[in-house]
Amino acid sequence: MKIRWLGHSAFSISTPNDVNILIDPFIRDNPACPVEVEDLKADIICVTHGHKDHFGDTIEIAQKNAATIICNHEHSVYLSQQELETMGMNMGGTVKADGISFTMVNAFHSSDMDFIDGIGPGGSSCGFIMELENHRKIYHSGDTSVFGDMKTVIRNIYQPQIALLPIGDRYTMGIREASIAASWIEPEVIIPMHYNTFPVIEQDPERFKDLVEKSTDTKVAILQPGETYQE
Ligand code: NI
Ligand code: MN
Repeated sequence: MKIRWLGHSAFSISTPNDVNILIDPFIRDNPACPVEVEDLKADIICVTHGHKDHFGDTIEIAQKNAATIICNHEHSVYLSQQELETMGMNMGGTVKADGISFTMVNAFHSSDMDFIDGIGPGGSSCGFIMELENHRKIYHSGDTSVFGDMKTVIRNIYQPQIALLPIGDRYTMGIREASIAASWIEPEVIIPMHYNTFPVIEQDPERFKDLVEKSTDTKVAILQPGETYQE
């Protein structure tokens, strides 16, 4: 399994059976992203919410790859009107695609479809728990504050081994809150995201790593945009 960070909250995951999952593919306008839209392969695209820095190039990539978009109900209604293949869902639900389970979980954040002129309401922001063919579970939290369900619902029900968490502050939790999230979720590995894309979310990931690793058994894998975590 390979998890490649594309900068910000964008990841490309290649599963043990070679299914390509893209999450929050903010590529073209992402100053931290080292790849081109044309270089990406996707069978499935997960979207956590409608803000441009997450929805990104979803439509173009889905069209080029005939990918299925897994997203909230409101986005699904809009995107299926654009002749795109979608699996709309909502909090607490699970869908299965290409042998992978996707569970939609809460995120505390806002969401409108600001990629549409005139802006439409975009349903709720969310996170995803992805269970791969080998039963490893990856939690992508989307944009969120720290919240109590991480300690109960996320940890007790889903028990993800790998967590992708924002540390940028201002629009999401920052380093202090994300280190508390780490102690609540208790994953084996955290890959920090949503930082250093823009000056307003500048953070030192080494500080996060120190804080988490001195207080928990969780390892923090700091990636540079374009780098891959593999297991
Ligand atoms: Ni956002
Ligand atoms: Mn964001």
